[in-house]
Amino acid sequence: MIKPWTIAIDGPAGAGKSTVARLLAQRLGYLYIDSGAMYRAVALHTLRCGIPLTEPDQIAALARAARIRFQIAEAGTDGAQRIFLNDEDVTEAIRTPEVTALSSAVSAIPGVRSAMVSLQQAVGAQGGVVMEGRDIGTVVFPGAEVKVFLTASPEERAERRHRDMTARGTEATLEEVRRDQDERDLRDSTRPVSPLISASDAVTIESDGMTPEEVAEEVLAVIDRRRREK
Ligand code: DC
Repeated sequence: MIKPWTIAIDGPAGAGKSTVARLLAQRLGYLYIDSGAMYRAVALHTLRCGIPLTEPDQIAALARAARIRFQIAEAGTDGAQRIFLNDEDVTEAIRTPEVTALSSAVSAIPGVRSAMVSLQQAVGAQGGVVMEGRDIGTVVFPGAEVKVFLTASPEERAERRHRDMTARGTEATLEEVRRDQDERDLRDSTRPVSPLISASDAVTIESDGMTPEEVAEEVLAVIDRRRREK
């Protein structure tokens, strides 16, 4: 049997990766994995344990010892997925602004990254996954059959995030969202370990003015093309 493919979707926050990756997983009958949720779970754990960022070794030890797992929705369904930290469902708790801010900082710690990368590689080892993140095509699955670098202008990304946050009942002004986004973009793209960069063999899609469905169609066209080339 031919091994099902791995689809890597990388890009900055607010580019629409989650919605697009979920749609793709649904259309392909693949599993959808949100790698950022794992860094968020480590951030939540760090916050709760009261470990300061000045103790990266302790945070890395916490990340290694934490039991982080997904309750995976069935392949090909709408991708609704729960994340568990030490058997507690933290799906909602990892989405607060406090956790969002800290997740960017903990994800810059090399020991945290190596622990999460191993977990991600284990979850996707059989193929048949659409995994989204920042370093999926460059570090986690450099051999992924299809790699997409999904981006959009900073203005459009901030507006999308602001709309999502308002819908979730989180209060923040567009200016605050933009400021946080700029800080995170800078930190995610300049950290020494696995910075957010496009893989040399990734297809870049600039999603300004496109709906998630249109982006997903474009990725499906790339997948089709690759399949014909094989
Ligand atoms: O995608 P997200 O916003 O939920 O990710 C949370 C943080 O984790 C973000 O600051 C970047 C980081 N991250 C990462 O460094 N590598 C990944 N593969 C996914 C997320």
